[in-house]
Amino acid sequence: MAPAFELQLRQLFPLALAQVQLRPDPLDSAVMLQALLHLRGEQQGNPNPGYAWTGDLHGVAQIHRLAPFAWLNEQVRQQVWAYLLALGFDASQLAVHIQRCWPVLSAPGQGVGRHHHPNAHLSAIYYVNGDGSGRSGCLRLYPHRQVNELVPGLAVGHGGPIAVDHPLNAPWVDLAPEAGLLVLFPSSTDHAVTCNDEDEELRMSISFDLVLTAPLSRSAAGAGSGSGPGSASLVTPEYLSPHPSDWTPLLAPADLSIREDGCP
Ligand SMILES: [Fe+2]
Repeated sequence: MAPAFELQLRQLFPLALAQVQLRPDPLDSAVMLQALLHLRGEQQGNPNPGYAWTGDLHGVAQIHRLAPFAWLNEQVRQQVWAYLLALGFDASQLAVHIQRCWPVLSAPGQGVGRHHHPNAHLSAIYYVNGDGSGRSGCLRLYPHRQVNELVPGLAVGHGGPIAVDHPLNAPWVDLAPEAGLLVLFPSSTDHAVTCNDEDEELRMSISFDLVLTAPLSRSAAGAGSGSGPGSASLVTPEYLSPHPSDWTPLLAPADLSIREDGCP
């Protein structure tokens, strides 16, 4: 029996996944594709069987600095700022840095296990190929917590009392790759890549890890008196790291040795 008064559900605290379908020049796409194949070379996967080849585990983690990816770099710059503004950030109080950028190539039978990127704040993925069907492997995004299952772990399945695939209790959301698609999401979000079930097609994507800091300070930028007394005082938003140009590395001593009691 329906209740006498209509119940309304409000969905609170949404995870902001951004997606935009880019339209690369076919020549730009071909150049990127060839560059990715060249970067992978003879390597076929990561050490674990069934895992895609990910450049970050093979020293190929700064490809945004390479000429074939200049077009994509500019698109990411534009879309990252659009995303941040849409989330309510004040651009004048931020600097954004590409910390790492690497290819992920999944051959048939390969995928990427569940993980997140604790080293970064914002992550982006660009799909070099894909037909939107998901057969070559979907990006699988997991909620931080499934609070609507009420009883922790109840929505795992196995004949439990919650309807399978109910949108308010989904254990994950799959996003099918499509050539030219760019997605952005918080780096703290657990994600995976499902198995490439194509017969022959190599799934190709490019990942970006970005970090937010305070803007370049006047002292680091060389403004005003440069390295004068003003360089010792910085005004930054309380919870943002200062700009990396303001950091001071502490070099490890050349003769560092550990005593038997574990003390240096
Ligand atoms: Fe990832």
